[in-house]
Amino acid sequence: MCGIIGYCGPKPAAGLLLEGLKRLEYRGYDSAGICVQAEGGGPLSLYKRKGKIRELIPLVPEELAGSCGIGHTRWATHGEVTDQNAHPHLDCSGRIAVAHNGIIENYLSLREKLASEGHRFASETDSEVIAHLIEKYYSGDLMEAVRRALALLKGTYGIVCLHRDHPDRLVGARQGSPLVVGIGHGESFLASDVTAIIGHTKQVVYLEDGELVCLTPEELRTTDLKDQEIQKKVEPVSWELEQIEKGGFAHFMEKEIFEQPESIKRAMGGRIDLEQATAHLGGLNMSNRDLLNVERVRIVAAGTSWHAGLVGMYLLESIARIPCTVEIASELRYRNPVVERNTLHFVVSQSGETIDSLYAMRELQRKGATVLGICNVVGSTIPRESNGGVYIHSGPEIAVASTKAFTSQITVFYLFSLLLGRMRDLSADAGSAFIRDLASIPAKVEAILAGSRGIRELARRYCHYQHFLFLGRGINYPVAMEGALKLKEISYIHAEGYSASELKHGPIALIGEETPCLFLVPDDGLRDKLLSNIKEVKARRGRVIAVCAQGDNEVRGIADDVIEVPRVHETFNPFLMVVPLQLLAYYAALELGRDVDQPRNLAKSVTVE
Ligand code: M6R
Repeated sequence: MCGIIGYCGPKPAAGLLLEGLKRLEYRGYDSAGICVQAEGGGPLSLYKRKGKIRELIPLVPEELAGSCGIGHTRWATHGEVTDQNAHPHLDCSGRIAVAHNGIIENYLSLREKLASEGHRFASETDSEVIAHLIEKYYSGDLMEAVRRALALLKGTYGIVCLHRDHPDRLVGARQGSPLVVGIGHGESFLASDVTAIIGHTKQVVYLEDGELVCLTPEELRTTDLKDQEIQKKVEPVSWELEQIEKGGFAHFMEKEIFEQPESIKRAMGGRIDLEQATAHLGGLNMSNRDLLNVERVRIVAAGTSWHAGLVGMYLLESIARIPCTVEIASELRYRNPVVERNTLHFVVSQSGETIDSLYAMRELQRKGATVLGICNVVGSTIPRESNGGVYIHSGPEIAVASTKAFTSQITVFYLFSLLLGRMRDLSADAGSAFIRDLASIPAKVEAILAGSRGIRELARRYCHYQHFLFLGRGINYPVAMEGALKLKEISYIHAEGYSASELKHGPIALIGEETPCLFLVPDDGLRDKLLSNIKEVKARRGRVIAVCAQGDNEVRGIADDVIEVPRVHETFNPFLMVVPLQLLAYYAALELGRDVDQPRNLAKSVTVE
């Protein structure tokens, strides 16, 4: 989704802004722009255009002077993808520039009022009203003008702005759209995401909703919307620059798929207690008594994180014997959900910024729920506002298609189920066996990755089909949905994930030579049922790819193609079933020449509704 970068310091700003924007590309965008203050208070230099940053770069003169500026990547919401609608936006005088993430819901009435007062608009965006409101209220104090403008806005924003009369300062503000300040030596940064600035500083300040910040190269001043000073904590960022680079891989998605043996290990790291045959998850902030009092679990998430939550539900019910429901965050937040006593809530989110998940969490908290986060991005909004939680420690996930976050999220659910299970029905022996199986997963994932060539060949043969069905049962049903999501989002092949048992209730009408079915058929208690489902498809001339356990000759005998994965206790199959599906989607997208890391219309972190 949209990205913001701001810089003030001694260095030429333009190069730093463009570099920051490139680091934000992964969020998804359709146009980009920068605005730089000329040295000594001359006119603002504004460059913006639709398309990729590589198309913006030639517009910006290499020798452009000015060491304070702002930049933006836009993901269109209000107004088409055009040069005019790209940010930053200027006021009528051309002295104020603003970049905005989020949506201003009352922009039409504001725009009409401003237009009737003589303001001239150059774009169709909701964001431009902010520049004109600041212009209206400016009388020498930029921060005050921003504060007065913000008081009129309804909706969400992360903004950064500059004024020609203040060549060494930026003003930023946040309401529902993340902003982080980077503190360097004699230089300051403002960004929507730490990835934009970690090449320059590891010292950051996270802004909260309702906060404004004024930055100069030397200092920052933070206030609330009533101008009360706020003392902010400076926090370190642990991510390294190499982690947000491709490191020899063709795409971030490929790198992230291949990182999984390590990222799964990191999600388990320091959390397994061999002696007690249980897990420790310190961040939960819950005593054993609190945990014993948990009678139900509700998991809330979106997209891939929702699929991880569904895997979690199977685990919590089967291992911990706790009733569990899983809900799509955007549905829950508008449904007036009932919060029952002794129900523990989890919000799962890789980015920690997904607006639907964040607002669902706030709604639950408002109703008195204890909500724990399962997140990847340290310092993001969901972990900061939750009542506790667990970081998955995947490292930065840059590709829009989530891969390593999924396997780390489910790792946390395995650990949590073990922890609760050991407090209830699970014996020490069963707990030890569980730990042994879980610990064996990284090596097994490694083995699947080593066989990626075969999957690439399969992708080559199947990528020209227009439709796919992904079918699984039990704990692998959400994995089938995840496989379908991966394929559709990066290859644009239409794919649906179903429970194989649902075939006969409708989707079987789609079966034929033109719709291949990918079956997840591990060696588990539902295998025979799945074999019957495969036969039903074959009887209707459907093509079948099966992901099955090594040496399963029966599956090999009936499927058209198979991908074999190592054998493991059936509880742990989701790890081994999902990796081939990630690879299949990746290679299919590659074959079709798609933009794998930044698929069309998608954003990495969905911060608007
Ligand atoms: O950051 P989150 O985990 O909250 O994101 C949720 C979804 O937007 C995300 O998983 C999305 O579905 C991915 N593109 C899936 O690959």
